[in-house]
Amino acid sequence: MKRTRGSLEAWGSLVLLALCSWTGSWATVPKPVRNLSVKDQTNSSITLGWTEPDGTASQHYLYRIQWEGTGTPGNKSTDNTSVLVDGLQPGSWYQFAVWVELNGTRSSQETCNVSTAPNRVMDLHKEAQTNSSITLGWTEPDGTASQHYLYRIQWEGTGTPGNKSTDNTSVLVDGLQPGSWYQFAVWVELNGTRSSQETCNVSTVPNVVTSLRIQNRTNSSLTLSWTAPVGPDHPSYTYWVSWVIEGTMVINTQDTRVSNTSDTRITLEQLEAGSLYTFTVQAERNGVSSDIRTLTEATAPNRVMDLHKEAQTNSSITLRWKSPTDPHSQAYTYWVQWAAGEHPQGDHDPRGHQANQTRETNHTYYEVQALEPGTLYNFSVWAERSNVASSAQGLLESTAPSPVTITSCISISGGHGVVLNWSCPRGGYEAFELQVGGQQDSQNRLSCEKRVSVWGLWPAQSYPAIITTIWDGMRAPSASVTCRTENSGAIVGAIVGVTLFLIPVGLLIFFLKKRHEKSQREPAPRGLVFSFSEDILAEDFADHVRKNEKDSNFGFEEEYQQLALETYSQSQTVALAPENSAKNRYRNVLPYDWSRVPLKAIQEEPGSDYINASFMPGLENPQEFIATQGPLPQTVGDFWRLVWEQQSRTLVMLTNCVESGQVKCEHYWPLDAKPCTHGHLQVTLEGEEVLEDWTVRDLTLQHMQEQKTLPVRQFHYMTWPDHGVPHSTDPMLAFRKVLRQWLDQTTEGGPPIVHCSAGVGRTGTLIALDILLRQLDRDQRVGPFSYVQKMRESRPLMVQTEAQYVFLHHCILRFLQQSSRVPTDNGVAYENPLYENV
Ligand SMILES: *[C@@H]1O[C@H](CO)[C@@H](O)[C@H](O)[C@H]1NC(C)=O
Ligand SMILES: *[C@@H]1O[C@H](CO)[C@@H](O)[C@H](O)[C@H]1NC(C)=O
Ligand SMILES: *[C@@H]1O[C@H](CO)[C@@H](O)[C@H](O)[C@H]1NC(C)=O
Ligand SMILES: *[C@@H]1O[C@H](CO)[C@@H](O)[C@H](O)[C@H]1NC(C)=O
Ligand SMILES: *[C@@H]1O[C@H](CO)[C@@H](O)[C@H](O)[C@H]1NC(C)=O
Ligand SMILES: *[C@@H]1O[C@H](CO)[C@@H](O)[C@H](O)[C@H]1NC(C)=O
Ligand SMILES: *[C@@H]1O[C@H](CO)[C@@H](O)[C@H](O)[C@H]1NC(C)=O
Ligand SMILES: *[C@@H]1O[C@H](CO)[C@@H](O)[C@H](O)[C@H]1NC(C)=O
Ligand SMILES: *[C@@H]1O[C@H](CO)[C@@H](O)[C@H](O)[C@H]1NC(C)=O
Ligand SMILES: *[C@@H]1O[C@H](CO)[C@@H](O)[C@H](O)[C@H]1NC(C)=O
Ligand SMILES: *[C@@H]1O[C@H](CO)[C@@H](O)[C@H](O)[C@H]1NC(C)=O
Ligand SMILES: *[C@@H]1O[C@H](CO)[C@@H](O)[C@H](O)[C@H]1NC(C)=O
Repeated sequence: MKRTRGSLEAWGSLVLLALCSWTGSWATVPKPVRNLSVKDQTNSSITLGWTEPDGTASQHYLYRIQWEGTGTPGNKSTDNTSVLVDGLQPGSWYQFAVWVELNGTRSSQETCNVSTAPNRVMDLHKEAQTNSSITLGWTEPDGTASQHYLYRIQWEGTGTPGNKSTDNTSVLVDGLQPGSWYQFAVWVELNGTRSSQETCNVSTVPNVVTSLRIQNRTNSSLTLSWTAPVGPDHPSYTYWVSWVIEGTMVINTQDTRVSNTSDTRITLEQLEAGSLYTFTVQAERNGVSSDIRTLTEATAPNRVMDLHKEAQTNSSITLRWKSPTDPHSQAYTYWVQWAAGEHPQGDHDPRGHQANQTRETNHTYYEVQALEPGTLYNFSVWAERSNVASSAQGLLESTAPSPVTITSCISISGGHGVVLNWSCPRGGYEAFELQVGGQQDSQNRLSCEKRVSVWGLWPAQSYPAIITTIWDGMRAPSASVTCRTENSGAIVGAIVGVTLFLIPVGLLIFFLKKRHEKSQREPAPRGLVFSFSEDILAEDFADHVRKNEKDSNFGFEEEYQQLALETYSQSQTVALAPENSAKNRYRNVLPYDWSRVPLKAIQEEPGSDYINASFMPGLENPQEFIATQGPLPQTVGDFWRLVWEQQSRTLVMLTNCVESGQVKCEHYWPLDAKPCTHGHLQVTLEGEEVLEDWTVRDLTLQHMQEQKTLPVRQFHYMTWPDHGVPHSTDPMLAFRKVLRQWLDQTTEGGPPIVHCSAGVGRTGTLIALDILLRQLDRDQRVGPFSYVQKMRESRPLMVQTEAQYVFLHHCILRFLQQSSRVPTDNGVAYENPLYENV
C-alpha cells in the first residue's frame, strides 16, 4: 500500500509537474495571424499582409512565412505584419503558410494560394487585315499557370471603342471601318492578376475603287477615272495606277509603268495608237493598299490614209485606203459609211437622201454597191479595234451617170434637120452632149424628154446619133441610133426654123433700141468717184504688160505683192459675231462693217441683218456692184432677201456648185419649173439657155405677202476653175460683153450681185474687168493696180491670186487688140446656136 501510496505520490507530482508545465505552455501559445491577404503581385514578387493576433506580448511576435510552388521552396521571418517575397517565377502559383512564434512557441498556420503576375505577351503582331477586320497574334508568355491565362484585347479608333477576351494566342476583331487606324492594347490575366499591356496600331484595308472607266480617249492618250472607295468619312487616298501594253509579259515591276495621284482621274499620254493597255488601280491609305481593280482598254487607232476612189460604175464605187502605221493595225477592222448627197433631179432615191449605210470589212478596200447613178456620195472610212473607232476619213465621190435611151429621131425641114427625143436618165445629170453625124454640141439638162432639133443636115442621109450624159466630169454615152433624113421638105419643120430665126433678130432690134434710148437719156459722166493715180494710157498698155511679163512675170509679182502687203485693219465686228459664224463660207473672207450690205433685220432674230456681202465701188457709183459669197444651205433664204431688198435684177455666178468633189456653192435656184419658196419669197425658173461656157437663166422672184414680183436674170459662167484662170481670154470677154449689154439695158433696179464661192477671187476679177474696160472706153486710160487696191478697201482679198491679176491684164490687152481691129463691135447678144429647144 505504502508502495502504491508512494507511487501514487510520484505519479501525482509528475502529473502536477506536467500539469504546471502544460499550464505554463498553454498560457504562452500565440494565436494565429488574422486577415492574411495579398497586398501586391508582380511578375517576380508577392507581398502578403496580415493583422497581428490578439495578445499582450505582440511586440515579441515573430512571424514565419513559408512558401512552395515553382522552384525551390523558401522561408522568411519578420516582425513586421507584411512581407515581400521576391525571386519568384512569373505567372505561377505559390502556396504560402504564415504563423506566429513567441519564445519558440508557434501558433497554428494560416495558408493562402497566390500567383505572381504573368509577363506581358510577346511578339504582338498583325496577322491579317481586311476592309472590316484585323487579326492579331502573339506569343504566350512564360509561366507554369499559363493554361489559366486569359488574354484581354481592347481597341479604339474610328467608331466606338471595344474589347474582347480569349484564351487563344490570336484574335479576330471585326465590325471595323475600312481604311482606318485602330490602336490595340493586349494583356494577360491570371485569376484577375494582369500583366502590363502591349500596344500596336493597325489600319484596316481601304475598299476598292469603283466605277473604273475610260473617260476620254484619243489615239495617243487615255483618261481613266474612278470613284473613291466607300469609307467612313471622306479621307484622302493615294491611288496607284499601273499600266502595261499588250504583248508585254510582266516579269518584274520594271515592265509596268506606275504613277500615283490623289485625284480620281489620270490622263496617260504618249501611248501607242490602236493598242490594248491593261490598267490596275489601287487605293492606298495609312500605308495599306486596297485590292486592285483592272481594266483593259484600247487607244483609238489612227486615221486610215490615202483614201481614194479606185473605180466607179454607175451603181458602184470601189474605195481603197492604206492602214495607218500603227503597231497592231493587222488587228483592225474597217468601217465604210456612205450617204447620198443631192443631185439636181431631186429625190429619186426611195430610201431618202439622208439615210446612211455602214458596212464592216477586214480589207483595205471596199466596193460599195447598189448606188444610184449620177449621185454624189459622202463616204467616211474609219478603223476600229476592240470597239474603239478612229476618227473618220471623208471622201466625196460621184457615181457615173446613167446613159439615156434615144427614143426617137424624126426627120424635119425636108431632110435638113431631125428632132431627137431621149429619156431622162436615172440619177443626176448636168448636161447632154449631142453628136449627130460630125456635129457636136451641148444641151442643158432640161432637154431630156423634150424634142430637140438639129439643123444643118443633108436630106436623104443616115446619121449616127449618140447622146452623152454628163455629170461631175463623167460621161455616159447612149447606144448609137441611126437617124435617116427624108427626101422632101416638111412644112412643120420649116415653120419652126423660121420662128427660131426670127426671135433673136427681134431681140437684137429691141436691145439696140433700148441702148439708143439710154445713151440719149443719160448725161455724160460727171467724173470719177475716185481717181486712179497710176493710170496707163491705152496706147502704152501693151508695153506695160510686156514689161511686167519679163523674167517670168516679175513686174506683176511685185505689183501683186504690194497689193497683198496693204492690209486694211477695218472692223469686221458683225461678221465675227457668234450668231453669224455659220453664215460665212470661209472664216477668213469676211465683209468689213462699213461696206457690208445690211439686210432688213427680222424682229427678235439676232444677226438677221447679216449676209456675207459687200458693196463695190464703180466709176461713178460707190455702190455699183455687190460682191458676195456663194450661198450656203443655211443662207439661201438670206441670199434671196438680199436680191429682193436691193431689187437686183442681175445675178452673176462664176463658179459651179461642185468643183473637184468640193461643194462650192449651194444650188440656190429651182432645178425645174417647180418653184422654190424661201420665207416670203418664191423663186421660179422661167427659162434657161445653155451655151458652151455659160448659161443664162431667167428667174422670177415673187414676194408672197406684198404680191409683187421681180424679174431676175442669172449669168452663170461655168468654165472658170477656182483659184485659177480660164484658159483663154476670149470667152471671158464675150461673157462680159453679153453681161454689159444686159446691164446697160436694165436701168431699173439695184446693183448687180456677183458671186463665186468666196466672192473675192473670180468675183473680184470680173468686176474689175468690167469697170476697167469701161474706164478705157471713156478715158482711153486704165488703172488696174489702183482699182484692185480700191476694191480691197471694200472687201478683203478681191482678185485673189497673182494669176487672176495677170489674167485681168491679158483680158484688157485682148480687148484693146479686138477694138483696134473692129473699133465699134457692138455685136449680137448671143451667137446663134446650132441647137435650140423646140
Ligand atoms: C479581419 O477579418 C474579420 C473577419 O474575417 C473582420 O471582421 C475584421 O474587420 C478584419 N480586420 C481587419 C483589420 O481587416
Ligand atoms: C518582369 O517584368 C519585367 C518587365 O516587364 C521584366 O524586365 C522582367 O524580366 C520580368 N521578370 C521575370 C522574372 O520575368
Ligand atoms: C529555412 O531556410 C533556410 C535557408 O534559407 C534553410 O536552411 C532551412 O532549412 C529552412 N527551414 C525550413 C523549415 O524549411
Ligand atoms: C514594417 O513595415 C512598414 C511598412 O509596411 C515599414 O515601414 C517598416 O520599416 C517595416 N519594419 C521592418 C522592421 O521591416
Ligand atoms: C522567454 O521565457 C523565459 C522563461 O521561460 C523568460 O524569462 C523570457 O523573458 C521570455 N522571453 C520573452 C521574450 O518573452
Ligand atoms: C492551395 O493549393 C493546394 C495545392 O494546390 C491545395 O491543396 C489547397 O487546398 C489550396 N488552398 C487554398 C486555400 O486554395
Ligand atoms: C468590304 O469589301 C467587300 C467586298 O469588296 C464589300 O462587299 C463590303 O461591303 C466591304 N465592307 C465594308 C465595311 O466596306
Ligand atoms: C468591354 O465591352 C463591353 C461590351 O462588349 C462593355 O460593356 C465594357 O464596358 C467594355 N469594357 C471596357 C473596359 O471597355
Ligand atoms: C482566384 O481568386 C479567387 C479570389 O480572388 C479565389 O477565390 C480562387 O480560389 C482563386 N482561384 C484559384 C485557382 O486559386
Ligand atoms: C477629251 O479629250 C479632248 C482632246 O484632248 C478634249 O478636247 C476634250 O475636252 C476631252 N473631253 C473630256 C470629257 O475630258
Ligand atoms: C447614220 O445613221 C444613223 C442612224 O441610222 C445615225 O445615228 C448617224 O448619226 C448617221 N450618221 C451620219 C454621219 O449621218
Ligand atoms: C473579220 O475577221 C474576223 C476574224 O478573222 C471575223 O470574225 C470577222 O467575221 C471578219 N469580218 C468580216 C466583215 O469579214
